Amino acid sequence: MKKVYLIGYMGCGKSAIGKRLSFATKMPYYDMDTEIVRMTGLTIPQIFEMYGEERFREMETEFLRTFRDEFCIIATGGGVAMRKENREIMRKTGLVFFLNAPFRDIWRRISTDRNRPIVQRSTHSDLEQLFNNRKPHYLHGAHFKVETENRSLRDIVDYIAFQIGRLKGEYK
Ligand code: S3P
Repeated sequence: MKKVYLIGYMGCGKSAIGKRLSFATKMPYYDMDTEIVRMTGLTIPQIFEMYGEERFREMETEFLRTFRDEFCIIATGGGVAMRKENREIMRKTGLVFFLNAPFRDIWRRISTDRNRPIVQRSTHSDLEQLFNNRKPHYLHGAHFKVETENRSLRDIVDYIAFQIGRLKGEYK
């Protein structure tokens, strides 16, 4: 096991938890969107606008295929677990944690966000449907499902850090 992947819907807490987990485990933290923005020199809305969503999905897969081989924590984008190839790469190269949150918490966090093209173009009910469609893929891709509802960040981070510590030696 080298990498720790956090997967789940937009607004489920991947970045907030990833950063704290990095502090707790002393493993470096990377945010996939941030890395893609850095590599392309474009924002996520610009990539969607200029190249289309499909090209963005290719960039995500490319990132997973080629990202450096080191112990690290990676917060993935909310659509990453939809592709079979992506799920296979993540499961093969690391431990995968699905952060589960109820849609009403998610909506509260993402509804006013301007940096997420999918939110910009969708209604509340579109986003809820997408959430329901995606959930089986998150469950399928993950080694662990982590409940976040009514739990503090600290509690969630402690739980994931414990699982990493317990399994580190087993995944090589
Ligand atoms: C997306 C989620 C975003 C980002 C892009 C598409 C998605 O990442 O990759 O806007 O399809 O759910 P976050 O999950 O970090 O918001």
